[in-house]
Amino acid sequence: MKKPIRVAVTGAAGQICYSLIPRIASGEMFGADQPVILQLLEVPFEKPQQALKGVAMELEDCAFPLLQGVVLADDPMVAFKDVDWALLVGSKPRGPGMERKDLLTDNGKIFVGQGKAIDAVAAENVHVAVVGNPCNTNAWICAQSAPRVPKKNFSAMTRLDQNRAMSQLAAKAGVHANDVTQAIIWGNHSATQYPDYYNAKIGGKPAHSVIGDETWAKSTFIPTVQKRGAAIIDVAGASSRFSAANGLIDHVRSLFTPGSIIHSAAVWSDGSYGIPADIMASFPVRTKAPGEWEIVQGFELNAFAVEKIAASVKELQEEIAVVKEMLAA
Ligand code: NAD
Ligand code: LMR
Repeated sequence: MKKPIRVAVTGAAGQICYSLIPRIASGEMFGADQPVILQLLEVPFEKPQQALKGVAMELEDCAFPLLQGVVLADDPMVAFKDVDWALLVGSKPRGPGMERKDLLTDNGKIFVGQGKAIDAVAAENVHVAVVGNPCNTNAWICAQSAPRVPKKNFSAMTRLDQNRAMSQLAAKAGVHANDVTQAIIWGNHSATQYPDYYNAKIGGKPAHSVIGDETWAKSTFIPTVQKRGAAIIDVAGASSRFSAANGLIDHVRSLFTPGSIIHSAAVWSDGSYGIPADIMASFPVRTKAPGEWEIVQGFELNAFAVEKIAASVKELQEEIAVVKEMLAA
């Protein structure tokens, strides 16, 4: 049997984690032959801690063959001890009428404390995936707060946006989402993100030649994907839950599993595609070895794409400027 992977999950009694945790324990994230130990963190108050106990009881009742242990924690120093992966979900979701960056003041500080704890106690080659919004900038904060951990080990989730883009393109083309590849998200997980119509493929052919409707791409496809999170909040009264959990399963599985598949993830920019270095931006990514990914080169970006990506990068830089001020205060 393989050595178990230790996985920390924060916000473990929240909505997303209720769908996420059983899927990690059943092997969907790290593979059907990979045992896991879950280290679950919640805030140190009675109600969430009781809810966390309930999660642990349900895990017990599932008798998952791959689950080798569960640690419940109200202290990040316990939750992140020796972990190989830290999945940072715990944070406040936005409500109607808010942008994700409006959460920075409340959520940003969580990622300072958790970054420091990861730096102090996590495994040497820990990998960190951030979901809590605004996820790109929270991942940047966490990386800055954990100087021991290589910046290349941090990521933030734009895979839900990619999945949304795949479904929208498939519906327009009258095919299954499975037939869509390279539906890459560039930039920020926000309303400025750029879902790449021009590089996406349907049945191996360029999506723009299959669909052949640039007006639809610009006036419907891109805004629909950009604003899908808000549309769900408007309709359901709560931000996406199981689709977010599913996005994180896909995100980590792709980063953990070597292969030729190109997928979207926000990672530490090395300056590729003219996106300034040292920000967390979404790129096309491919995984070379478990947890070792690279930004895929060679995507062509037309003038429209360059302009859209620049707007998203500007927003990321503004978010970082706000954080720097916040941290200096
Ligand atoms: P939720 O309110 O249901 O759950 C969040 C949980 O986090 C709560 O149980 C809360 O007690 C806990 N928490 C808060 N601060 C914490 C801390 N410091 N340490 C540990 N736990 C803490 O929210 P949710 O629906 O699960 O959403 C969680 C986050 O994920 C939100 O910020 C939301 O905006 C974000 N999100 C991101 C994406 C994405 O695509 N990147 C998609 C959906 C949701
Ligand atoms: C999403 O994209 O569904 C999440 O980021 C939640 C939100 O606030 O939109």
